[in-house]
Parts: sequence; structure tokens; C-alpha cells
Amino acid sequence: MNCATEQYDLTGGKFVRDESLDFGGIRAGEGVNSIHAYPAMFHSRLVRQLIERYCAVGDYVLDPFMGSGVSAVESCVMGRKFIGFDINPLAVLIAKVRTTPIAKDILLNTLEIINRQYYDVIPNPPAFPNINFWFTQERIMSLSKIITSIDSIDDEDIQRFFKITLSETIRAVSQTKPNEFKLVRRKKPCQFGTIKLFTINSFKNIKSLDDYYKLNKIIYNPNIQLVNTLTGDIQIEDNSISLLITSPPYGDSQTTVAYGQFSRLSLQWLNLPYDSDKKSLGCKPININGGVPSPTLYMILSIVSRQDLKRSMHVFSFYYDMFQCLKKIISKIKIGGHIVFVVGNRTVKGTQLPTDVICVEMLESIGCTHIETRVRLIGNKRMPSKNSPTNITGEKAPTMKYEYIVVCQRNG
Ligand SMILES: C[S@@+](CC[C@H](N)C(=O)[O-])C[C@H]1O[C@@H](n2cnc3c(N)ncnc32)[C@H](O)[C@@H]1O
Repeated sequence: MNCATEQYDLTGGKFVRDESLDFGGIRAGEGVNSIHAYPAMFHSRLVRQLIERYCAVGDYVLDPFMGSGVSAVESCVMGRKFIGFDINPLAVLIAKVRTTPIAKDILLNTLEIINRQYYDVIPNPPAFPNINFWFTQERIMSLSKIITSIDSIDDEDIQRFFKITLSETIRAVSQTKPNEFKLVRRKKPCQFGTIKLFTINSFKNIKSLDDYYKLNKIIYNPNIQLVNTLTGDIQIEDNSISLLITSPPYGDSQTTVAYGQFSRLSLQWLNLPYDSDKKSLGCKPININGGVPSPTLYMILSIVSRQDLKRSMHVFSFYYDMFQCLKKIISKIKIGGHIVFVVGNRTVKGTQLPTDVICVEMLESIGCTHIETRVRLIGNKRMPSKNSPTNITGEKAPTMKYEYIVVCQRNG
């Protein structure tokens, strides 16, 4: 098998390459999860299967790195009670929009009002740094007219829906390359007029929301919070969560997916904080110490540090932070409850980091048993095809091909 499981399968056949989880060709974000792209989104079918398998109707599901909320959507429509955290305000907005059904007629009427007001509203452009680098003057005027109309909507749910639709439009009409997560200037401008594209995006999202919630009903409203899992106050009762399912960041935001950078222009337009990359796991390098119970991690660090000490400190800091989060959360999981980590094993300085194995070692050290690790092709997940593992501008390498679904159980 051409994946890291071959190298690291020292656990007696608990690693399974499961081709049925590749979901041959089906997009990661179907239905309501197609509203607003987000980097490294869960595959909704994977999450659905895991929820069905590891918790019952009425049970609590927790996702401490929730992103755009695929786990929130799936939990809600499967009758589970959901709690989710993220540090990125755009992720929180997307997750709330995807889990808030709103009548189609109300949204269509509001869209008509925004379109009508567009020609009368006096633009009041924001003045964030570099606005003129990323947007032409014409785009700035048009976007600021739309945002003024959206701000005047009284209903919070409807206002949030149109903010997310505007966010999709902002990215598309900006001077950034459409398929890059980081902000890279593009050569060819977008051909659509701003209000026209906003209207097209609105119709698309209204249809996605309406089609989805005609077939699926939300039983318990989700609890979605802008919270830093590492440093924030986690208000969850001990022994209450049946399933923790999450896909943490792949590593520090400088050399992996920069969620904050992906979201920055939208957040600046929406007047929300845009510094989440500075709060993400592993954002500051720290001296390597004995604080992470993973022999595999120290073996890998000894290789990376010989080539680049600073990089190895970044790598260590990421796993150190992740372990602090796990220690903080583990008491919230029921005895016998499950913990599912969906992770990718990235490469740093030519050495693959077996995050799946490191997660197992960390979880075992805090009273969990490894049940299994399933391996799927990452093909349908929205990921850049190249990244910059050396952190040198222009130097790129292919990103991960597989993802690892690590399942553990909290012991009694
Ligand atoms: C791989 S993404 C999750 C994607 C998600 N599974 C989805 O379907 O969209 C990881 C998320 O972790 C968030 N994150 C990073 N550090 C965090 C922290 N300390 N607390 C909470 N969220 C954090 C990032 O903002 C990002 O949205």
C-alpha cells in the first residue's frame, strides 16, 4: 500500500486502507455544505457514517476545531446535540449559516430589497490596509453599497446568510487567485459585475439551503462558539460527550493551510477580527521539551532538528499545543465514549510526520484505547495540490494524498 500506514503499522492490523471511504468522485461538500468553500473540509459522508456508528440520537457530539461546520450539519440532521468551537470568525459564521434553515420566500424578498437599494445607497467604503491592492475602486464602491444594505437587515439569521454570500463574492471579485488559500495576486480579473455575482451566489445558496432543509430536519439547535480550544473557557460538563469528532489543523499555519489568511479579506470587509492564524495551534516555536507523551514524535524531531532546528521547534509546538487541548477536553468525554481524529501526515524537510500515530500515543497516555485507524484517499477534500513545507517562497511539494481516521475510546 502506498501510504504511511505501511511504514508505521506496528499495532497488529489496526490500520485499514478502506477504499469504501474514498467515496469515488463524490464531492466533499454536498448539499448545504456547498455554501461557502473552506479549506480542508470534512467529507460529509465520512462524518455521517462516523456519527451513526459511534453515538446515538440525543447524544452529544463535540468538534473542538469545527471549521465550516460539516460535523455540525451532520449532527443536527441526525438528531445529535452538537457543540463546536473555532477561532476563525468566518468559520463560525459559515457553520451557523449552514445550520440555520430560513424560508426561501423571505430570503428571495430580502435579495430583491438589496438589489433595489443598491442603486440608491451611498457607498461608505472601509479603510483597511491594502484594500486598493486587492480591489479596484469600482469593486470597493459596489461591495460597500451591498454591505450597507446587509447591515440594515434587522433579523440576525438573514443578515448572517447574506454576509456569507457576500464573503463568497468578495473573494471572487478580488485580485486574488481564486483557487489559492493564501493571498496571491492574480493576473486576469473576474469578469462578472459585483452585484450580478452577489445575486447569482445568493440564488445558489438560497437553493442549497431550501433543498437541503426540505429533506432534512434539525432536531436540536447546535451550540456553535467562537472559542480558542487551547486557551478559552470550555463550558462543558464532565462525562457528557459521546463522540468527539474533529479534524485539527495539519500543522502551523505558516507552512500548512492558513485558515486566517484564506478568510482575511472577507473578515476585513465584515469588520471582524482577522488574526486567527496568530492564535492557531503551534503558532509560536517553543524549545523541545519532554512534555508530549509520544516516542514517535521525538524520533521524528531528532531527524528534522538535524536539518533545521527552528522548523523542529515549530513542529514540536504544534503537537505540544494539540496535547494541551486533549488534556483539557478528555474529561468531557463519557467513559466508553469515542474520539475520532481525522488527520493528514504532512512532510517537513523531507520527513513525513506520522500525526496519526502521534495522536494515538497522546490519547493512550490519557486513558484511551486505540480501536482502529482507517485510511482514505484525500481526493475529494478541498486542499491545495502543492504547499510550501520548507517555508521558502516558491519552493513547493505535493501535499498529502491520504487522510487517517483515528478512532480511540475513553477507558473506564
Ligand atoms: C482542518 S480545519 C477544520 C475543517 C472542518 N473539519 C470542516 O469541515 O470545515 C481546522 C480548524 O481548526 C481551527 N483552529 C486552529 N486552532 C484552533 C484553536 N486553538 N481553537 C479552535 N479552533 C482552532 C482553524 O481555524 C480551522 O478552522
